[in-house]
Amino acid sequence: MTLRAVVRGVGHFLPARVVENAEFEASLDTTDEWIKSRSGIERRHFATESDTTSSMATAAAQAALKDAGMDVDDIDAIVVATSTADLTFPSAATMVQAQLGMERGFAFDVQAVCAGFVYALSNANALILSGQAKRVMVIGAETFSKIMDWTDRSTCVLFGDGAGAVFLEAQDGAGTSADRGILATDLNSDGRHRDLLYVDGGVSTGTSGYLRMQGNQVFRHAVEKLASTAHTAMDRAGVTADDVTWVVPHQANIRIIQGTAKKMNVPMERVVVTVQDHGNTSAASIPLALSTARARGQIKDGDLVVTEAIGGGLAWGSVVLRW
Ligand code: ACO
Repeated sequence: MTLRAVVRGVGHFLPARVVENAEFEASLDTTDEWIKSRSGIERRHFATESDTTSSMATAAAQAALKDAGMDVDDIDAIVVATSTADLTFPSAATMVQAQLGMERGFAFDVQAVCAGFVYALSNANALILSGQAKRVMVIGAETFSKIMDWTDRSTCVLFGDGAGAVFLEAQDGAGTSADRGILATDLNSDGRHRDLLYVDGGVSTGTSGYLRMQGNQVFRHAVEKLASTAHTAMDRAGVTADDVTWVVPHQANIRIIQGTAKKMNVPMERVVVTVQDHGNTSAASIPLALSTARARGQIKDGDLVVTEAIGGGLAWGSVVLRW
């Protein structure tokens, strides 16, 4: 018998405010056509005054619990992937714990920017495999609209807000790639690339700051590193591209998604794409895409799913799981 972290439920929350590309044409030297053709993005959601990272994370977690047919008492731990927590501390995760009405267990945040959800899934998997928790709520939630420089057309048109959650449960497997649950993970980072993507402020520097990105340089790293981490995780899981039912990539740019799928030898018909409707929601993008794909009827029980993401750090990674 091999312990596996199996997906029991998935859910998401998107703020009510939807902003189409054309809205930016009034304040910036940009066009719907440029944004769509360079990134694939058509619209994104922005937090309203009543939305925070923790409130959106809580709503996504509640949806995942409902999907699982379980309740708050069934959660042992909460892991929130975010770079935009409500406060410097306490963690967004402990705020979610309180908002859910959960009075036991433990909760913490993981910060790996756009790779955050993959890092959080990998951490949750480790908690389950080591016996520290039986059921873990893994959430990606972001309000990147709060760290945008609205005068910088090369970044502010690309990002959006939202949250997604996946509820994992320890179950016995046979130890083969036919098992349900997380089959393999792969995490990487290279801090030498700090200047490609960062926020130019933070607590210890006494500033708050805005997101800065050398988009074309990040692009240069993305396809190669994403395909490489996906291949590593697939090798560890003992599966090949032909076995993959769905690739669920970080939703930053349709051209990166297409380039990575090609390098992975997976046709676009087997890639979940939500970037047109959500923009880049950083750590929220993969769980949002998983939840959207389930709602669309794309991902079914037993499907082999590969997730991959890259972001600030640079940090990147992949998780292979059977739904
Ligand atoms: N409207 C019109 N023109 C624009 C805009 C805009 N909104 N933004 C930039 N431009 C201009 C630039 O100024 C440049 O003009 P120039 O040639 O006169 O200098 C031109 O368009 C081309 O700019 P590039 O940056 O080279 O365009 P590129 O084709 O690379 O697309 C993009 C830019 C969409 C940012 C792309 O590079 C990208 O997606 N990069 C990766 C982003 C990513 O994956 N980030 C990682 C995750 S995010 C995270 O971790 C937080």
